[in-house]
Amino acid sequence: MFFMRNVAVIGVGMTKFGELWDYSLRQIFTMAAIEALEDAGCSNRDIEAFYVGNMSAGLFIGQEHLGALLADNAGLKNIPAMRVEGACASGGLALREAYLTIKAGEYDLVMVGGIEKMSDSPCTEDVTTTLGAAADQEWETFVGLTFPGAYALIAKAHMERYGTTKEQLAMVAVKNHKNGKNNPKAQFRREITIEQVLASGIVADPLSLLDCSPISDGGAAVILASEDMAKKFSDTPVWILGSGQASDTLALHDREDLTSLKATRLAAEKAYTAANMGPKDVNFAEVHDCFTIAEIVATEDLGFFHPGGGGKAVEEGLTEVDGKIPINPSGGLKAKGHPVGATGVAQVVSVVEQLRGEAHKRQVNRAETALTHNVGGSGATAVVHIFSR
Ligand code: COA
Repeated sequence: MFFMRNVAVIGVGMTKFGELWDYSLRQIFTMAAIEALEDAGCSNRDIEAFYVGNMSAGLFIGQEHLGALLADNAGLKNIPAMRVEGACASGGLALREAYLTIKAGEYDLVMVGGIEKMSDSPCTEDVTTTLGAAADQEWETFVGLTFPGAYALIAKAHMERYGTTKEQLAMVAVKNHKNGKNNPKAQFRREITIEQVLASGIVADPLSLLDCSPISDGGAAVILASEDMAKKFSDTPVWILGSGQASDTLALHDREDLTSLKATRLAAEKAYTAANMGPKDVNFAEVHDCFTIAEIVATEDLGFFHPGGGGKAVEEGLTEVDGKIPINPSGGLKAKGHPVGATGVAQVVSVVEQLRGEAHKRQVNRAETALTHNVGGSGATAVVHIFSR
């Protein structure tokens, strides 16, 4: 008989994000896993299955077969273990797969991991080439389009249609660096100004260096539990109320519209329906700001602002930690860092800290419901989750 069960996050852990020269991929992940197990108050022997989000360890450091490797290092002996890949959305997809297996009744306690080691690449050009493997090789990468280039095209289209300005893009970076300053695990803990963003050097017009998320190493892990197990192990479970996933064309030129990501809109619709909620019911969100324009587009696609209203909303301070709908109180990908496969899981770590009231200086007032939004590539994969305490 088919039945559906409630699922909660009962433990979270993550490493500091940044250039972690002193640690290998397996060491980084094991640190996050141990922190999550300790936080959940359960043993590695209690975990029944393991899903890990990773975009490209094969190309970054020549290591594949991460499911078994990382499970073994985290002491998760002989259980089903697998890697999940969907470019920068890999972590969010791993979370969703684990969530579905518990919901369907297969497992009661599952570890979800996210990991990437990007800074061992010899140079930025090599990182750009590896990341470019997640774009359409035949139509985009082969002719020289990079991810900063793809998001620059989206920014140009948004500016042309809605009058979004470079200053508004810069304000996203300024806000997220301000939030990152209060996050001890963020890669960048320094404030920046609009002038610094505008003067930071063009990477792909109109995006400057400080409009971009950085190249990062980092790992994150969360423990998911069925309702019975959540009650056994935790006094502060955070419930997953809804999950939605959608896909779209890899190549930008095949999309109906460049100013919006259809996969985000569809994934959000599914997550909102499952949670029986709408955008107005969400208290704050961690969204995929791989470039500043991506945050503006996400806040529109998730329904927080009308199409074209995202730039103005940042300018009016609506997305600040004390604003109407705080966006990326963790510092987001921009300041917290973006070890691509780890990002979707790290977003959940940030949300859980907020919903438990443990986010200290970056704590959002009245944090009862939250949303995470994780995107692969320039929008070919999107996954959205909704949480409540
Ligand atoms: N934000 C803030 N500071 C950054 C930064 C960023 N994104 N990237 C680099 N820096 C800083 C470095 O810390 C360094 O500071 P320092 O001189 O004080 O040490 C300085 O800028 C130069 O760093 P460097 O590594 O030489 O920069 P770079 O020119 O090689 O790389 C980017 C900069 C923007 C090209 C690179 O970060 C990048 O490719 N980002 C996008 C990653 C991406 O596409 N991710 C996937 C999204 S879909």
